[in-house]
Amino acid sequence: MGFRLNFKWLSFEGIDMAIDLGTTNTLIYTLKDGIVLDEDSMIALREDTGDFVAVGKDVKKMLGRTPDNVRIVRPMEDGVIADFKAVEKMLRCFIQKVQKKKLFIKPRVIVAVPSGITPVEKRAIINSIEESGAREVYLIFEPIAAAVGIGLPVTDPSGNIIIDIGGGTTEIAVIAMSGIVNKVSIKIAGNELDDAIQIYLYDRYNLAVGQVTAENIKETIGSASLSDKIEEMEIRGRDMVTGLPTTVKVNSEEIREAMKEPLGLMNNAIKKTLSETPPELASDIVDKGLILTGGGSLLSGIDKMISESTNLYVKISDDPLENVVKGAGIILGDIGGYRELLVNPD
Ligand SMILES: Nc1ncnc2c1ncn2[C@@H]1O[C@H](COP(=O)(O)OP(=O)(O)OP(=O)(O)O)[C@@H](O)[C@H]1O
Ligand SMILES: [Mg+2]
Repeated sequence: MGFRLNFKWLSFEGIDMAIDLGTTNTLIYTLKDGIVLDEDSMIALREDTGDFVAVGKDVKKMLGRTPDNVRIVRPMEDGVIADFKAVEKMLRCFIQKVQKKKLFIKPRVIVAVPSGITPVEKRAIINSIEESGAREVYLIFEPIAAAVGIGLPVTDPSGNIIIDIGGGTTEIAVIAMSGIVNKVSIKIAGNELDDAIQIYLYDRYNLAVGQVTAENIKETIGSASLSDKIEEMEIRGRDMVTGLPTTVKVNSEEIREAMKEPLGLMNNAIKKTLSETPPELASDIVDKGLILTGGGSLLSGIDKMISESTNLYVKISDDPLENVVKGAGIILGDIGGYRELLVNPD
């Protein structure tokens, strides 16, 4: 086999990246290769020294099984940074994974942030990203990024409504003329559904299960609206009376009941946003319906639940877990053209 010269390192395109730093998942997108990283927003560190143990998907596998001297950190909480040091370490690892080679030029990075972010939180994100090796940092509000990722005409005067149900937050935003006209953000999203399932199993069956199991139940038989077919699932956990491992059979109706309260709060937030929306835009929304994005929109029957509660047409976007990072990537690809969509960093 002959010797092949590789000139790839001479090209600087594709080093710029878009990041969706979510409470549950972090995604990175480059203009050259699209989505290049999709990992859990978690890092494991040694308790005593703070040394790195694992990051992302590798940590998820370790959940609930780590020895005492390993600490698992979810550095994002409700969409914002809860642990600065840990988020920097996590991002540095992710950025290194994406840029296998050391480059002379540092990347430009666009990060999607929750629309309710405070100036202090903005600074924290910008600093963390700069510390992880970026040259320039741009911010974009998540609902705007999602709308661009979905392909909605965000610069049009006609309004669109985006409901992003993530792990930590549910954000409902009315978008028109490149801006957010009205928004409501609540700290009730996928994680609270998992918590509600854990509490239900504890109260009803004295069964203790971990968060991973609760999430798995939600994704497998969880449903937000009554369905014709009742599904069953065997759950393993610990019987809190005997202290022994045990198995319990639960059905989808029980899980729906378990999630009722947080789902009701999501419905209320959506109705509140609609009631505060100017009439002209409200009329656009009646025509176009509501658009669901974020991992939570994959919960079975959630579109039906929202549609029944609002009497409006509801559509789940394609690839709801990827809309935000893709939209941020599209904006990064034409930062001049999309300038008016960017968040003022100060
Ligand atoms: N099939 C499914 N059914 C129900 N929920 C799901 C499904 N798949 C993923 N989820 C949930 O989606 C959530 C993660 O969504 P997403 O990645 O959009 O959140 P995030 O962007 O990390 O969080 P945030 O936007 O709140 O910061 C998790 O709570 C996860 O359990
Ligand atoms: Mg998100």
